Amino acid sequence: MTPPWRATILTLFPEMFPGPLGVSLAGKALASGLWELEARDIRNSATDKHRSVDDTPAGGGPGMVLRPDILAAAIDAANVAPDRPRLLMSPRGRPLTQARVAELATGPGPLIVCGRFEGIDQRVIDARSLEEVSIGDYVLSGGEIAAMALVDACVRLLPGVMGKEASGAEESFSEGLLEYPQYTRPQAFEGRTIPEILTSGDHAKVAAWRRAESEALTRARRPDLWGLRAQQKPPKDTTKG
Ligand code: ADE
Repeated sequence: MTPPWRATILTLFPEMFPGPLGVSLAGKALASGLWELEARDIRNSATDKHRSVDDTPAGGGPGMVLRPDILAAAIDAANVAPDRPRLLMSPRGRPLTQARVAELATGPGPLIVCGRFEGIDQRVIDARSLEEVSIGDYVLSGGEIAAMALVDACVRLLPGVMGKEASGAEESFSEGLLEYPQYTRPQAFEGRTIPEILTSGDHAKVAAWRRAESEALTRARRPDLWGLRAQQKPPKDTTKG
């Protein structure tokens, strides 16, 4: 039997895990063995009596830099199979997409290095072929929350985690569209009613309405996604009658 999907986290704050990954959907799946989480303390690879892991930046400047020898030792000690992706959460990484999440969820599961301080010595990024991944154009105080976001996005895609309710949000996002608005009872809320089409029972009309709403939202809020779609769509075939 193949072992379950596994996330190996290298961090200076292992006590942050599982944190939010230990509750709700991901937490239940973790408890039932559908995936595994290992949080390893980078500091355990320190060699001096103060267990220091960082030093001042070469060339000067503020903050501290994680030492390459310590982090390399921590990565090597994790002893992960060579087919597992090695990620480094970093605001200068390639932005995470649903497509990359789906790839990561399909594989054996990543090793994830969580950055702290001003940065990580470039030589260990190169020497251990770390793939830098960002979760957005803003700066967190460390990579841990970013790693949790990535792991959560992967775990919900694992077989058996979501059950049959494969959500519309998922489907619309992988198509490059934002999700259409949802409604439920009561029929009237503070004077606002549910769009009539949704209670008409006409499934084709409902589907067309949702599609149009998704497209309008995407165009208005995410011109970047909308532009990508236009590029990817094959040109209309005008040769057929
Ligand atoms: N570490 C700090 N900020 C980050 C971000 N935006 N994405 C990934 N890792 C980070």
